[in-house]
Amino acid sequence: MSISIEKYIERGKLIIEEQINQVLIEKEIPTSLKESMKYSLFAGGKRLRPILLFASYNTYAENIEKVYKTAAALEMIHTYSLIHDDLPAMDDDDYRRGKLTNHREFDEATAILAGDALLTYAFELIADDPMLSDTEKTFLISSLAKASGPEGMVAGQVLDMEGETKVLTLEQLEKIHELKTGRLISFAITAGAYLAKTTTEQQTYLENYAHYLGLIFQVQDDILDVIGDPDKLGKPVGSDELNEKSTYPNLLGLEGAEQQKEKYKETARNSLKRANATDSYLEDLLLYFGNRDH
Ligand code: IPE
Ligand code: IPE
Ligand code: MG
Ligand code: MG
Ligand code: MG
Repeated sequence: MSISIEKYIERGKLIIEEQINQVLIEKEIPTSLKESMKYSLFAGGKRLRPILLFASYNTYAENIEKVYKTAAALEMIHTYSLIHDDLPAMDDDDYRRGKLTNHREFDEATAILAGDALLTYAFELIADDPMLSDTEKTFLISSLAKASGPEGMVAGQVLDMEGETKVLTLEQLEKIHELKTGRLISFAITAGAYLAKTTTEQQTYLENYAHYLGLIFQVQDDILDVIGDPDKLGKPVGSDELNEKSTYPNLLGLEGAEQQKEKYKETARNSLKRANATDSYLEDLLLYFGNRDH
């Protein structure tokens, strides 16, 4: 690890933004659609998933260019999921990252289509990536489809909506988060590890790390919705309570949620040890995820 985690994150952001820019410039896309895609792609996302993918790959290998297109594809899927998540039929939110949501800046039809375009373009990017072998492409396309599809993120979104106004158990809550947020985070880690040619044993431990990292991300998300700073978050707080969502703080109390986060951290750290990935950016990112303020 030659640079600090802050610099590593900064560098990762620059790389991913340049990549996204580049792959959009190449495309002949109707102006209104392109504007709408770019609006959400460059609305100030933290780029956590691409950075995780870079960190996972860099823990075991060097030539990071190999994962650039996969990282761009992952950020596109994430961005599509947020555009659709904010729609009136779903969370009906007006603001994201301090800016109007896509359908408020443009209109609903454009927002839906921008989401569709990002989702499909993601798979095109991987399929056409000259840096990858056919075997690698098949693995990535299959696992990204599983992570985002009807047994992955989309399943989580459905269970999340169905869970509104119900009191869920901690187990049910973990299941929803594992699907809704965790699967794309897991893809970042496993894709990086796979492309870096890790052993299946290492991959199993890293999957376990990714699972707990996803939960840490979500506990913090819930905590921030209670005690976060709206200016830093770029959206109002208290929306979970408003939507009668089951969250870690209302199931366990704020103190209990913090303790749960510590338990997850400990388990995640142990998995990293077993994957020979201590003293890596993956370890630093555990802290970063757990303590983030936006
Ligand atoms: C927010 O994800 C939505 C969830 C999956 C909980 P991020 O917090 O990673 O969103 P951005 O891209 O940084 O805004
Ligand atoms: C969004 O979850 C998760 C996905 C888009 C997959 P939330 O609805 O909880 O996230 P925010 O609060 O809008 O960022
Ligand atoms: Mg939602
Ligand atoms: Mg939402
Ligand atoms: Mg939330």
